[in-house]
Amino acid sequence: PVIRREDYLPPAWLVPEIALDFALGIDETRVVSKLKVVRNPDAAGATALRLHGDQIAALAVRVDGEAINDWRLEGPDLLVELPGAEHLVEVETQVNPAANSKLMGLYASNGMLCTQCEAEGFRRITFFPDRPDVLSTYSVRMTGDKATFPILLSNGNCTAQGEDADGAHWAEWHDPWPKPSYLFALVAGDLVANHSTFTTMSGREVDLNIWVRPGDEGRTQHAMDSLIASMKWDEQVFGREYDLDLFNIVAVSDFNMGAMENKGLNVFNTRYVLADPETATDGDYDAVEGVIGHEYFHNWSGNRITCRDWFQLSLKEGFTVLRDQLFSADMGSEAVKRIEDVRILRSAQFPEDSGPLAHPIRPDSYQEINNFYTATVYNKGAEVIRMMRTMAGPEWFRKGTDLYFERHDGEAATCEDFIKAIEDGAGLDLTQFRLWYSQAGTPLVSASLSHEGTTATVSLSQTVPVTPGQPDKKPMPIPLRIALFDRDSGTHAGEQLVVLDKASDSFVFEGFAKPPVLSINRGFSAPVSIDIERANEDLVFLAARDDDPFARYEAMQSLVVQHLVAAVGQGLGDAARAEARAAIGKAFAAILTDPALDDLMRGELMILPAESYLAEQMLVADPGAIHAEREALKTWLGREYADALTALHDRAVAVPYGRDAAARGARKIKNQALALIAAGNAQEGARRAYAQYRAADNMTDRQGALIVLASLDVPEREEALAEFHGRYEGNALVIDKWFSLQAGSFHPQVLANIRKLAEHPDFTMTNPNRVRALYMGAAMNPKAFHDASGEGYRLIGDLIRRLDPINPQTAARFVPSLGRWRRIESVRAAMMRAELEKIAAEPSLSRDVREQVTKSLG
Ligand code: ARG
Ligand code: ZN
Repeated sequence: PVIRREDYLPPAWLVPEIALDFALGIDETRVVSKLKVVRNPDAAGATALRLHGDQIAALAVRVDGEAINDWRLEGPDLLVELPGAEHLVEVETQVNPAANSKLMGLYASNGMLCTQCEAEGFRRITFFPDRPDVLSTYSVRMTGDKATFPILLSNGNCTAQGEDADGAHWAEWHDPWPKPSYLFALVAGDLVANHSTFTTMSGREVDLNIWVRPGDEGRTQHAMDSLIASMKWDEQVFGREYDLDLFNIVAVSDFNMGAMENKGLNVFNTRYVLADPETATDGDYDAVEGVIGHEYFHNWSGNRITCRDWFQLSLKEGFTVLRDQLFSADMGSEAVKRIEDVRILRSAQFPEDSGPLAHPIRPDSYQEINNFYTATVYNKGAEVIRMMRTMAGPEWFRKGTDLYFERHDGEAATCEDFIKAIEDGAGLDLTQFRLWYSQAGTPLVSASLSHEGTTATVSLSQTVPVTPGQPDKKPMPIPLRIALFDRDSGTHAGEQLVVLDKASDSFVFEGFAKPPVLSINRGFSAPVSIDIERANEDLVFLAARDDDPFARYEAMQSLVVQHLVAAVGQGLGDAARAEARAAIGKAFAAILTDPALDDLMRGELMILPAESYLAEQMLVADPGAIHAEREALKTWLGREYADALTALHDRAVAVPYGRDAAARGARKIKNQALALIAAGNAQEGARRAYAQYRAADNMTDRQGALIVLASLDVPEREEALAEFHGRYEGNALVIDKWFSLQAGSFHPQVLANIRKLAEHPDFTMTNPNRVRALYMGAAMNPKAFHDASGEGYRLIGDLIRRLDPINPQTAARFVPSLGRWRRIESVRAAMMRAELEKIAAEPSLSRDVREQVTKSLG
């Protein structure tokens, strides 16, 4: 069944209050739910009360205290005809959390009980109008064995607790803020807290707890520091204050996604909470900070103002991603953060936008909403709001968000409400800009520069590609930050913002005796692809001199992309190859030694474009050729710049561990340099990697060395992998790394290694982190996934079929990799398609996988 945005109808009944009573047990939990229901004055007609359900049975239904039997089921939903305007409806259900392998609703993880209700998990706990525009005040009571569940948590504040005779205890929780059911949460288990406090700007003291399994509390301080920084930052930057006396975070090891913003009780995947230098890389530290911020910021963008329906998901997710990006930029390096965010967008969202699953940031229809928690809704959603901010300027944008928060506080709002508030508050006209919400596809902007006399003209044109269901596209407003550099002085007269809002347009600039060098889409001001023909010498110039750090990175990437696309596409003669390499080498050498660069930025500039991004530049890609050419370039760089790279590695090795930017930068270039040294000279690479591994006193160094060793066919490889496994036995997050780095390696036997790892006693299909470690590692590894034998496709196809009955949501996440077949050369494409067809032939597929596979086959 297809759900359509245009079919939205307000709910017939509202539920202002709900009281839930849980009798907790790992494999049997009883739930009594009491709903105060009132007819919605805004809904037309007298309709039955619809209570959604999913794989649950109603043990009893009572209306106004009387047991009734005339309720009926419609599919999974329970319908009750109610005569009057207000009633008390009670429903009893029973669930088995231990058997809940989908990890939606109430489930058991590591001996504790927890919930995940977004998007439609609440209906797996009890019958309820499980839609985000039904807001209720929640009172929760839970009873459970005290030894099994010493800690009992829910949303809001704990209002009472006590003991029963038989070793049981109970707690009552009340959340004063009305919320939709997807924000409900309950946690019960043996947990210990890192406790702290935060005083808000108006002087409210808030208790903060980060709850983890006993033994993990020593790895929670970074999460706590990040939480406190988030609370402070949201006050300072968005004027948003926390609104309860208590804020709890719980870390659980079995979780489908990153984390969940349940009101006052965030539930997190352990990987975004636990961090210490011995077990977490610098990247892990950043991810913890970013996700802690993200979930905290949802308290306003998501909870105080929620979504009217799930088509509006980007209202809370796009905005909250932007907020977490700005937060992380303020906490660290703005330049590096921007580059990382663009890299994620290009590697995850661009392929989505150009494939069979393309959808606008506000989709028009879906079959399974879990399939729409995508890079498009999240990351492109953030880019779209970032463009509004760029066009308005930060101060005016803030006036827009202030108005949004004020106007819609307490409501279930729409993307249109957000746009209108930004228009009214920030003083923008977003009439045409709204197309960014309805049109899918990454716009392609063609740019060229001409020069005559002293006039430089920038000519721009745009096309928005055809996407499934959207054959005709209109031009959109595309804000481009540009600068024109004088070649001799290496300076420009100031950056300009031009907005291309027609199919084509040109912009004239005066005062250039010679043709300037064009720097365009600086800071990645619009989420578009730019098609521009530029001489290598111009790109070398920008890579060395552009004062916009993103543009500098972009120039370096373009040099490499232009060369590799040409090499793969038409094959290059020796002279052309030598010329392109010389240009890349010149820019690369400047990056290695430029004293004005900090090492975090230097490390960023040293990263070569991903194979998936290179494939994206070609209509039909040959993954084997892309891999070979990219590896050949790495080898060349490693040999040609061996001295500079070893000098860089030596310098970085001498820097002691610290969490400051300089020490982190040193670790970043250390690992970048090591990888290139190994590409140029396997012996020297293995020697240095092994030494770095042995000497490591932190996970960034240890993992960086092991990643290099894992791709080499050398004896040190096995020894280091075994040492690593032994050292971290029992630490699930680190064992995940062990699986993931082997699955992601370029080792000649990588596919055989992956098959072996799937048989390893530490592997399990029921833990999403472990499944992703091994199989996302494989699906994202071009060498393994696109192996000419088709073995990589079979591996992922088999996985999807075996995982679907256990955890459909996680299984469905693997389909898009196979769904790329149309953009891959024909021999591989046929094998990818065959895997999709084999999945489609399964008799009882989940709605999640069915939707993705059907759309991918097209
Ligand atoms: N709202 C959560 C976040 O963005 C994600 C939860 C998604 N869960 C799901 N089952 N689709 O942080
Ligand atoms: Zn979110």
